Amino acid sequence: MKGVILAGGTGSRLCPFTRVINKHLLPVGPLPMIYWPILSLREAGINEILIITNKNHINAFMKILGDGKELNVKLFYEIQRKEGAGIADSLMCAKSFIDEEKFIAILGDNIFEDVLTPYIQEFLKQEKGARVLLKKVKDLSRYGVPQLDDEEKMIKCIIEKPVHPPSAYCVTGIYLYDKRVFQFIKAIHPSIRNEFEITDVNNLYAMENELHYDILQGWWVDAGTHESLYKASQYVNGEKSVEDDIN
Ligand code: G1P
Repeated sequence: MKGVILAGGTGSRLCPFTRVINKHLLPVGPLPMIYWPILSLREAGINEILIITNKNHINAFMKILGDGKELNVKLFYEIQRKEGAGIADSLMCAKSFIDEEKFIAILGDNIFEDVLTPYIQEFLKQEKGARVLLKKVKDLSRYGVPQLDDEEKMIKCIIEKPVHPPSAYCVTGIYLYDKRVFQFIKAIHPSIRNEFEITDVNNLYAMENELHYDILQGWWVDAGTHESLYKASQYVNGEKSVEDDIN
């Protein structure tokens, strides 16, 4: 299976650093942020990884990571089509890299403890569809929040940045897709924040009763704010455990 890491975006919540540095190159513990999802994919046996970023930062990524040899992976690069057009729009750039296969996509600012292997194995057992990984969090209004069908272990729908969250879980930025994802991306329209939302893509799978889920057991951080970036460093340095999670 191949992996895709989405490392574009403006990183506006991490200003002023992100005026000159891509957020995914900021330090998390001893390493640049992007190393962590690469290491998570490698740990799950995924060695061919596409990094999608913006045109102003691609050289910095290539300088730091090169072709991946140092990390024992093969890295490929793509420039996202349009800055600020959303996660789904960036993911479209992976189409030729993925071709006909099932794959895993990770948002480059998602840092987590779990080993991905069991979730990938479950996904490979699925004949088709998608699978997302969930985590219980306190501030649900920052995320996509699923309405669950516990019995069937399926997601009925996801509400992005909800005012009235339909469950206690957020959809993390770890997505397992079959090739239909690219058809679904083509079918969606920009949201109120003028982005092609990955949640809208996931909801198309949910409408077909094809959106499965698992719940992450360990700590998980979306390191996109100053507070959560600091927290991510504490986690990777072993100074914090999942029990004191304050997501
Ligand atoms: C994105 C997704 C959201 C998800 C989150 C996880 O949010 O849209 O559904 O819960 O990543 O990190 P964004 O970072 O674009 O606000």
